[in-house]
Amino acid sequence: MSLFITFEGLEGSGKSTQARLLYERLQIRGYPVILTREPGGTRIGEMIRRILVDLKHTEMAPTTETLLFSAARAQLISELIRPYLATGGIVLCDRYSDSTYAYQGYGLGRDLDELHAITKAATGDLMPDLTLYLDLTAEEGLERKRLAARVNRGEQLMTPSSPSSSNNAQQEPAWNRLDARDLEYHQRVATGFQELIQRDPQRWRKIDARLPVHEVAHLVELEVEPLLAQITLLEQDS
Ligand SMILES: Nc1ncnc2c1ncn2[C@@H]1O[C@H](COP(=O)(O)OP(=O)(O)OP(=O)(O)O)[C@@H](O)[C@H]1O
Ligand SMILES: [Mg+2]
Repeated sequence: MSLFITFEGLEGSGKSTQARLLYERLQIRGYPVILTREPGGTRIGEMIRRILVDLKHTEMAPTTETLLFSAARAQLISELIRPYLATGGIVLCDRYSDSTYAYQGYGLGRDLDELHAITKAATGDLMPDLTLYLDLTAEEGLERKRLAARVNRGEQLMTPSSPSSSNNAQQEPAWNRLDARDLEYHQRVATGFQELIQRDPQRWRKIDARLPVHEVAHLVELEVEPLLAQITLLEQDS
C-alpha cells in the first residue's frame, strides 16, 4: 500500500511550511517519503512554473494557464508520483488538481466539466488518499505573503553578496503573477475550495491555519497518523 497526501489552501496559508514539516517528521520516523510541489517538482515542471508565475506574463490566456498547470502535473505524475507510489511509499504534494478547480474554475470562471476532462487527461484520475486544507481567509493569507515579500526584499538589500540558496527563491519573486490578482479573485477561490470540500468530505480535512506553525503541524500529524499503519518502514542501517 502507498499513500498520496496533498496540501491545499489559499496563497500564504502555510502549505509549503506544513508539507516540509510533515516530510521531515515522517523521514525521521523511518517512513519512505518524498515531498514535491505543483506546478514543478520535475525539471520540465519547474520550467513551466517559471512561465506561470512570471509577473511580466500579463497576456496569458486562461486556457493557456490551465493547460500549462496540467502539463506540469502530467509530467510530475508520470516521472515522480506514480513510480514512487508503486514502491509503496508516501508522496506529499504541495497543491494538486483541486487547485485547478479552485483557481481556474471558481477563480477565473472556467467551465468545471471542461477542467475535469483536462485534469483526467493529465492525471489518469489519480486522486489523493488525503487532502489537508489549510484554512485561512484570503486577506490573512495575502497579508502573510506581503510580509514575507517585504522581509525577502530587506534580506536582499542587506546581503547583496550572500551565497545563493539551493531553493528557487532567486528566480521566483515572493510575490508572483498569481498572488497579484485582486482580492475578489482570491475570495472566489476560497468559496471554490469550500464547495470542493463539501462535495467530497471523506478525502478532505480542514485545519485551522491561523494557529502557530507547530500547532498546525501537530494537527496535520494527527490526521495523517491513522493512515500510516499501511506503510512499511524503511529498513534501518545497522
Ligand atoms: N501558522 C503560521 N502562522 C504565521 N505565519 C505562518 C504560519 N505558517 C506559515 N507562515 C508564514 O506565512 C508565509 C507563507 O507560508 P507558506 O509559504 O508556507 O504558505 P503557502 O501556502 O505555501 O504559500 P503559497 O501559496 O504562496 O505557496 C511564510 O512567510 C510563512 O513563514
Ligand atoms: Mg507554497
